[in-house]
Amino acid sequence: MGIIHGLVGVFWVGIHFNNEAFLLPSMAKAQKLADMPMLRMMPKISMVGAILGFLTLITGVIFFLIRFPLDPGGWLADPEARTVLVGLVMVLASLVIGMGILRPGAEAFGKKAGAMSPMDPLPDDMKAGLARIGMFLHISTALVVGALITMILAINGGI
Ligand code: HEM
Repeated sequence: MGIIHGLVGVFWVGIHFNNEAFLLPSMAKAQKLADMPMLRMMPKISMVGAILGFLTLITGVIFFLIRFPLDPGGWLADPEARTVLVGLVMVLASLVIGMGILRPGAEAFGKKAGAMSPMDPLPDDMKAGLARIGMFLHISTALVVGALITMILAINGGI
């Protein structure tokens, strides 16, 4: 279970690095849809991200219950368990942002984009939508990297 959890978790972080390296820079500068070739991949990236996020959460919770006895008081007293719980809070926050803001935002953008030609200049409201998606993607990246750091701290004894 640890290996599966570690792999899906790290893949999930990886998709965030892909966003930071390729998707976000083109979104920040875009004046028209043609400036953002990666955007056509957005629905797929977003779906894979959501699946990996939920798999990380589910496998993590199962692994947690295997590793630590069912005793909430004891969890907070155990440095390893409480470090993982900090990671859990970060992951939940990232999933709330993803499902509550990023996916609906991307869908709304996609609907408007579908009615435009690639060379049309982007209207200001769509640029503002992209900036908002970009900001929350950065926050999500910070949260998943933070969660990965808590995992590394936990396997080294916790804090
Ligand atoms: C970005 C999110 C996450 C990433 C990248 C991640 C990654 C990892 C990695 C690489 C390990 C080491 C694998 C091993 O020990 O075999 C680990 C351990 C662990 N993870 Fe996660 N994880 C994430 C989120 C979570 C969540 C939400 C939970 C649920 C509570 C969780 C629970 C655990 C537990 C219990 C361990 C074992 C810790 C220990 O042995 O001290 N993880 N995680």
